Amino acid sequence: MASLYAFLYTLVLVCIAAVASAQLSSTFYDTSCPHALSTIKYAVRAAVAKERRMGASLLRLHFHDCFVNGCDGSVLLDDTATFTGEKTAAPNNNSLRGFDVIDTIKSQVESVCKQVVSCADILAVAARDSVVALGGPSWTVQLGRRDATTASFDSANSDIPKPTSDLSTLLTDFSNKGLSTTDMIALSGGHTIGQARCTSFRDRIYNETNIASSLATSLQANCPSSGGDDNLSPLDASTPSTFDNYYYKNLVNKKGLLHSDQQLYNGGSADSQVTTYSTNMAQFYSDFAAAMVNMGNISPLTGSSGEIRTNCRKTN
Ligand code: HEM
Ligand SMILES: *[C@@H]1O[C@H](CO)[C@@H](O)[C@H](O)[C@H]1NC(C)=O
Ligand SMILES: *[C@@H]1O[C@H](CO)[C@@H](O)[C@H](O)[C@H]1NC(C)=O
Repeated sequence: MASLYAFLYTLVLVCIAAVASAQLSSTFYDTSCPHALSTIKYAVRAAVAKERRMGASLLRLHFHDCFVNGCDGSVLLDDTATFTGEKTAAPNNNSLRGFDVIDTIKSQVESVCKQVVSCADILAVAARDSVVALGGPSWTVQLGRRDATTASFDSANSDIPKPTSDLSTLLTDFSNKGLSTTDMIALSGGHTIGQARCTSFRDRIYNETNIASSLATSLQANCPSSGGDDNLSPLDASTPSTFDNYYYKNLVNKKGLLHSDQQLYNGGSADSQVTTYSTNMAQFYSDFAAAMVNMGNISPLTGSSGEIRTNCRKTN
């Protein structure tokens, strides 16, 4: 009798553990939509073949989704007369892009399986496929997120890290989302691809001293001290559309574009990890892949929470 109770007790604990840790699963769509992942992959490949930068833009969409009330597709909701979403919040306005590509992917996925695959999962898979398309590492994406019926303009303003922040604030921003120092430094390597607007780095190239003067001078040509706010420069000037470890090589040479980038190599506690990644791309790849899985696990809606949107721009 005692052993029966012990057995039942163990069974209950195992079930609780399974529910707590296995909300998402890599096989979530294997029977409900077996062609979901290949559909997304081909669409991402096509979009990146058309414009390399799109891979960067899609990666960033998943990050900005996950940091605002979890990875729930909230970033994709359009504003309406009665609803203000996240698209015009300061980190996103005139900056986030790739929404049309997500619409295309969503309609292709809907045509193979109606109302099965969430917009939040499409963002997570598209981020991975974008990194792969630009030559970076691959990882297994956990799936089963559902889509929010709400969004938060205020949380987008407060929770998405700012390019003007110092190292301690960046670490706090990530730790508030359950992400470690290692995750923060590895995920920042997302800036090995893509572009930033003059307004995001003007202060750094005119007023900071921990920047290589050759970089500051060349950036100033396309980013005047006033005006030209939307002029673009690559986050990684060496290899702007290849997912490699040049972001970290640049930091070691004081060639980070954003104030927040150079904070990772400025005599502080992040320096040694940056140095490691600058010479060991395999280590960066494996830490980045692990950190992307961790970021993708931020507060997903699962079970019967939320919904599966039919159009990523609006609730059903
Ligand atoms: C560490 C804190 C971070 C800060 C302060 C930050 C800030 C920024 C800023 C200011 C831009 C340029 C926006 C513009 O000027 O329009 C940018 C672009 C970008 N960010 Fe971050 N970011 C951070 C972390 C991340 C992470 C974790 C990822 C992904 C793993 C990421 C991926 C990107 C990409 C790919 C772009 C270029 C997008 C494009 O070209 O469309 N960032 N980020
Ligand atoms: C977003 O950008 C547009 C165009 O520059 C601007 O008119 C609008 O005021 C901005 N929205 C917010 C909320 O800042
Ligand atoms: C540089 O810093 C000064 C003093 O804080 C400020 O007035 C000026 O606007 C800054 N220049 C740029 C281009 O950001």
